[in-house]
Amino acid sequence: MGRVLPWSEDSTPLMLAPMQGLTNRAMRAVQSEIGRPDVLFTEYVRVSAVSRKRVCASDQRESRPVAGQPPLVVQLIGHTPSALAAAAQLVQEQGVRHVNLNMGCPFGRSASGATGGAMLAAAETIPQCLRAIRQVVSGSFSVKVRSGYEDPEQIFSLLPVFEETGIDFLVLHPRTVVQKYDGAADHAITRRVVQQTVLPVIANGDVWNADQGRTLLARSGAAGLMTGRGAIADPWLFLRLRGECPDMPSPGERCREIRHYLGQLTLAYDELFCGEQQVLAKLKNVVEFFPDSCAKNWFKALRKSRSLAQFREVLADFPVREIE
Ligand SMILES: Cc1cc2nc3c(=O)[nH]c(=O)nc-3n(C[C@H](O)[C@H](O)[C@H](O)COP(=O)(O)O)c2cc1C
Repeated sequence: MGRVLPWSEDSTPLMLAPMQGLTNRAMRAVQSEIGRPDVLFTEYVRVSAVSRKRVCASDQRESRPVAGQPPLVVQLIGHTPSALAAAAQLVQEQGVRHVNLNMGCPFGRSASGATGGAMLAAAETIPQCLRAIRQVVSGSFSVKVRSGYEDPEQIFSLLPVFEETGIDFLVLHPRTVVQKYDGAADHAITRRVVQQTVLPVIANGDVWNADQGRTLLARSGAAGLMTGRGAIADPWLFLRLRGECPDMPSPGERCREIRHYLGQLTLAYDELFCGEQQVLAKLKNVVEFFPDSCAKNWFKALRKSRSLAQFREVLADFPVREIE
């Protein structure tokens, strides 16, 4: 039987990365509408080792695939094999086909055990966790992993484990866990991983524009690409990568795009989050990711907004024409 994948095997999938606090269902809806990534990921879903519920109700709500949107991969973070398997079963009961295990988050440590990136410092726990999830997942089962805990070469010792336990694909962010987000992603490692495993490898890390993405795909030979911060800053990035939109919009066009993006996000966040200040904080969090200099003062004004009405006013007054 062939591999189950959330994309068709003859294509090069472009994926929206899981990002805690950002890729909630409202953001996923807006990203789907604008850039239409080929695959969506949830933020990581905490799997409780103690509660019989395993996944809290709000995370369960966040983990439901939506008709008409790209395939959804639910990412679990946890450390107890039986709990991870139970959580995988639970999400599948609500229609999920694709499950991923977080093996990279530098902040995912829990009081009761090694989760996320900390799993790489307790590598002996990995095979049992992977086997337990694999046994219950009938769709795709993947891992998202850093290149190592401290040693960027550690990934090469994990590849046989991933292959033997029946992983369908792996997403590699080639920084170490202790490195957090410092320095640059080392995609020479991505290239070597692609060469040394039979598994499809999805390259992730530091893709902010179409040129960087295409270069990474060509140089690494990866099966696909995942982008996080780049897509939060520019949801059109997926269209640019596919050549369906200019690589570099003019400053005026970029400002029009941002106005549309934040306008859609304001509506979607207003529905998802409770209370004006929470909606505003979530919107400002997104603005933090914009690297543009073309509208620096405008971004500053957005970040300084004290109410949603003020945020909307700044958005509406944005001088698109003056910039051109
Ligand atoms: C705010 C933030 C939240 C993140 N949350 C998650 C997460 O929930 N699960 C995960 O696997 N990675 C998470 N990551 C890592 C990203 O998925 C991605 O691997 C990393 O940002 C590198 O890709 P990029 O350079 O395209 O952003 C997070 C990163 C950031 C900046």
